[in-house]
Amino acid sequence: MNFDKELENKVKETESIIKEYLPKEDGWAKTVMEAMNYSVNVGGKRLRPVLMAETYRLFGGTDKVIEPFMAAIEMIHTYSLVHDDLPAMDNDEYRRGKKTTWVVYGDAMAILAGDGLLNYAFETALKSFEMSDSDTGKKAKALSILAKKAGIYGMIGGQTADIEAENLGSQATQEHLLFIHEHKTAALIQAAMMVGAVLAGADETQICLVEKAAYEIGVAFQIQDDILDVTSNLETLGKPVGSDAKNQKTTYVTLKGIEDASQEQRELSDHAIELLESLAEEGYQNEFLIELIRSLITRIK
Ligand code: IPE
Ligand code: IPE
Ligand code: MG
Ligand code: MG
Ligand code: MG
Repeated sequence: MNFDKELENKVKETESIIKEYLPKEDGWAKTVMEAMNYSVNVGGKRLRPVLMAETYRLFGGTDKVIEPFMAAIEMIHTYSLVHDDLPAMDNDEYRRGKKTTWVVYGDAMAILAGDGLLNYAFETALKSFEMSDSDTGKKAKALSILAKKAGIYGMIGGQTADIEAENLGSQATQEHLLFIHEHKTAALIQAAMMVGAVLAGADETQICLVEKAAYEIGVAFQIQDDILDVTSNLETLGKPVGSDAKNQKTTYVTLKGIEDASQEQRELSDHAIELLESLAEEGYQNEFLIELIRSLITRIK
């Protein structure tokens, strides 16, 4: 099967897993559930749950225990986007090709839908404890990684630095920007891949390797996101271009220019691939995962 077809199938499977775990829309709090489901269902690449499932497969995982975690990471990621788009943050009106949650449901409901998704992500991941497969220790470790990488030492920390770096212009340093990219974006990619590794029973050294590779994949992913914000268009990207310039963000493009930024993201991705390929010596291989990471280098959305 060719890569594109295989990816399409995996994304479809992932979406049906996510759907199973979304809340039913009923009762007096129905509106927040509708806003949550709208935000998740409008689309998106589903990169994080697919990376999670493929890292799980890399280390020989085959159980359904991965599924609630796949849904959970997409909920956390989606909440981060719902809040990121709010007028008080990036103030954007399109996401995943549709109007952003705050435009459709209003600011208050978008804040609550984000809160709802974050909390529901943990309610969902905790459902893994009702499943008989895999041991409790692994599930607890996976949960703790998910919680930490999404929080103030992870994604929320990165978003904080991102907001505070607005208007810094050329005063921003490379270290500052790397902190932002590592935390706002790479942290959730790390969580995705590390959870997959942990649940499949990878050892400490292997989990460490995955964390390192996912760091590089995540920083590269955000660099490409910065580039596309300058070079793409709303129709292809599904979100507005020029958002970073509008908000006076410091990005890899403002700091280094498109050429150097592009070169750097390629180098990071190549190195991440090398790291993951080194696991073949221990008998762990997943060609689809490698292809997926390679495809991100030249992604256009
Ligand atoms: C967007 O993530 C936010 C960043 C971290 C760059 P994605 O590009 O994965 O967004 P979706 O999930 O496909 O919409
Ligand atoms: C946001 O980075 C990363 C998140 C944690 C949401 P951006 O603000 O660049 O993401 P987009 O471009 O709006 O998707
Ligand atoms: Mg932002
Ligand atoms: Mg944004
Ligand atoms: Mg962006």
